[in-house]
Amino acid sequence: MFEEKTILTGVKPTGTPHLGNYLGAIKPAIELGKKASRHYMFIADYHAINAEKDPAVLNEKLKEIACIYLAGGLDPNHSVFYRQSDIPEIPEITTILYAYTPKGFMNKAHAYKAAVDKNREAGKPDDDGINMGLYTYPTLMAADILTFNTDIVPVGKDQIQHVEIARDIAGAINAHYNKELLHLPEYYVDEHVAVVPGIDGRKMSKSYGNVIPLFEDDKAIKKAIFSIKTDSRPMEEPKDPEGILVYEIYKSIATPAELQEMGDGLRQGKLGYGHIKNMLLDAVIREISEAREKYNYYMAHFAEVEEMLQEGAKKARPVAQETLRRLKDAVFGR
Ligand code: TRP
Repeated sequence: MFEEKTILTGVKPTGTPHLGNYLGAIKPAIELGKKASRHYMFIADYHAINAEKDPAVLNEKLKEIACIYLAGGLDPNHSVFYRQSDIPEIPEITTILYAYTPKGFMNKAHAYKAAVDKNREAGKPDDDGINMGLYTYPTLMAADILTFNTDIVPVGKDQIQHVEIARDIAGAINAHYNKELLHLPEYYVDEHVAVVPGIDGRKMSKSYGNVIPLFEDDKAIKKAIFSIKTDSRPMEEPKDPEGILVYEIYKSIATPAELQEMGDGLRQGKLGYGHIKNMLLDAVIREISEAREKYNYYMAHFAEVEEMLQEGAKKARPVAQETLRRLKDAVFGR
């Protein structure tokens, strides 16, 4: 379904990804990109400045994200890999899209609504601390997508609405000029990807402080894994593996045979919590150690990564220029 298609993946350089992000979002995005005829993979740094105002922090997050994708197997010879702010046509296209973006769309967009809700809960004025970047975020995201004639945008469920807004804006422009100036994108939600629980059983999330770190050293990973919640049942007591947190996390990483082995051991009272935590630790380290080496290499040699990003921008810009020209010709009647 992805052959002959243009897929576009965007990622905001905020937060340090954890194991759950890596297994549940980053790896699947890289794999999907490999299946597509054309894959655009970009770092959405214009989106990030709405929330992060410290350039040193921004830069560090951007480095991390870029290196994580490369470490995870993104192939910059196949995927066009670039930084959003290196493509000046994107903000230009955004400006044109504004003229076709009903303000009501922005009022209804999740990110803005969530920020308003938070203010209300805190007893603050609705728009307290909300900047126009956040408010108009979906139009910039529409430009990210429409600039590259994208067929498919792989997203998490929270981003579906944004792709629909991009479609609506493109549809409005096409209808107005009565031609296909912009290609209508579709979203794709992969229902099969792992949702990795955190060490306390809730969804793994930095805000809950329940993460297994990604590319930290073995000691840090071990510490997180050995803090996974367990109960006080003795090893000999036969246990249903379902619902045992270590086993649930193991599901997203173990081979079927390994999962079977852990399940049997628990059912037969032959494996205790210490054993299964060690099994999980081995599997996590096996999964990430090669990528971690690459990650550390790229972080230490970021000039090489920067060069890849510049190469990516060189490939992306002609496409962006072509879209911008098409739009300007139509909008300004040139
Ligand atoms: N909004 C996305 C997120 O928060 C990131 C993003 C920006 C994006 N532009 C995009 C994703 C374009 C896909 C396509 O995760």
